[in-house]
Order: sequence, then structure tokens, then C-alpha cells
Amino acid sequence: MSTKQKLVVLGSINADHILTLEHFPHPGQTLNGQKYQVAFGGKGANQAVAAGRSGANTAFIACVGDDALGYEIKAQLANDHVQTDAVSVVKNESTGVALIFVNQVAENCIGIHAGANACLTPEYVKQHEALIASADALLLQLETPLQSIIDAAQIATDAGVKVILNPAPARELPEDLLRLVDVITPNETEALSLTGIIIHNESDAANAACVLHTKGIKTVVITMGARGVWLSESGEGQLVSGFKVNAVDTIAAGDTFNGAFVTALLEGKTPSEAAQFGNAAAAIAVTRSGAQPSVPWRQEIDEFLQKV
Ligand code: RIB
Repeated sequence: MSTKQKLVVLGSINADHILTLEHFPHPGQTLNGQKYQVAFGGKGANQAVAAGRSGANTAFIACVGDDALGYEIKAQLANDHVQTDAVSVVKNESTGVALIFVNQVAENCIGIHAGANACLTPEYVKQHEALIASADALLLQLETPLQSIIDAAQIATDAGVKVILNPAPARELPEDLLRLVDVITPNETEALSLTGIIIHNESDAANAACVLHTKGIKTVVITMGARGVWLSESGEGQLVSGFKVNAVDTIAAGDTFNGAFVTALLEGKTPSEAAQFGNAAAAIAVTRSGAQPSVPWRQEIDEFLQKV
């Protein structure tokens, strides 16, 4: 049995269909793509894989469809050191799908079909109550039904389990959820949805973090792409700088950061050390294409940090 602290991730699984284009199509326009790739993704699965590959004792609560991709993804999660006992195959459902365009400057835009991810209901969360309560940390995102996320956070809080919320994709959130969160990790767009503050610089990030602190969240980590992250603990803020690399695509950069960051926190690293570890993992991920194919293993992250 592992003596490592235990992480439970609850979230989505998608098959990503990724088309690289010169630029995003305008309404009514059809464009030829330069590269097409089908890869395993979904914010929950990407974060679970990032945690598993970077060395956390990781269990995942999720749903796949009763299709070939669903079975393949579940098997691959196990190869990525993610425990899948709580990953269910849902009869008569298809696995979630993400349609992703990537442009020449490595930006992306994404459309989602939830498929089996919509079956991650409050009842399903209830079935896995003991698993959540047995964890040291619970990592959540927003690609599965919101009430289930709130219920999972409540179970964790009641059991003294630390709750980390990556509030992606961007949306407004009820106070009922925010008050259960110990650590929140929005990007600039998500921070805008939650606080109404447009983040241009560190001072804006500090202001947005303060708004989130007033909701009862102790640690705020605002991810700001290549610049790094704004880390604010009870109002004491600092920039933890990112690493300069040649980005190919940024798909799952945030997910990789989250999985690696939480892994490092569970190892007892300080939030600032954990953010640096997460930044390194994300920097490696953006140099590769696709979501899970881009997520680095622990040895790669350690070697990267030794070189910088
Ligand atoms: O965060 C990246 C992920 O968002 C992709 O893997 C895609 O599945 C969407 O969920």
C-alpha cells in the first residue's frame, strides 16, 4: 500500500479531435487544416494523468461511454498511474468529445459534447463518498454537472479533505461552492468570470485574488500563460514566473499545471515551490501537441528544473 498522500480527481473524460489551421475559421468559412489528431483529453482526465505521471497516488471518479474509445481511455489511465475503480462505463452513452481548433500562434478554441460526462450525477458522487472522504485532497474542474461538484466538495470539506478547484471552463459560480474551496486556480478568463476584473498585470491579478479571498478561499493561484502564476495566500501575493519555451499548442497546459501543482503540494512542498513545479510541467506540455500526449512524466519535470 502506498504511503503517499492520496489525491482524488473528479471530472471529465473526452476524446479530443484536434485540427491545426492557419487561423480560426470565420462564420461561413471552410478551411483546410494542416494537421489532424485524435487524442485522449477532458479536463478531469488530463489533470488525473498529470498527477499520476508526476508521481501522486491518484484515484479518478469519472464516466466514459460504452464505446471503443471509452474502454481505451480507461485502460490508458491505468498505464498513467491513475486508479480507475471509480471510472464507470455508462451503457447506451458515448464518451465525451471535444472538437478543437489550434491556430498558428498555438491558441485553441474548443466545442464540447458532454456524452457520458453528463452521467456524473449527484447519485454517482454519493456512491463514491467513502473514496472522497478517504483522500488528502480533492481536485475538481467544471466539465461535469455542477451539483455533483458541489456535493463532492461538501463531502470533502466535512471529512477534512483539502478542496482544490480549477474553475474551467469559465463560468460564474455559486457562493455555496466557493465557500467549500481551499485552493482555486483560475486562468485570466476564468478569474474575470468570477471577479469581474480584467487581468492585464500583476496589480489586477492581486485585486482579483483579493475578491476570491473575500469568498473564503485561502489560496488563489491565477495562471497567466507564459508569464507564470500569481500566487496569493490570504492576501500576500507574488508572481511565480513561468519558463520560456517554444509553444506548439497550449491544450491542457492548465490541466498539466493543476495536476503537477497538487502533486507537489501533497509532497509537502510550499505553494510557491509547488507552483514552480507546476509551471515546469506546463512548459514541457506546451512544446508538444495534444492533451494527454503532451503531459510529462516526473523524471522529465525534474530534469527540466535541473537545467533551468
Ligand atoms: O483543457 C483542455 C481540455 O479541454 C481538452 O483536453 C478538451 O477535452 C477540453 O475538455
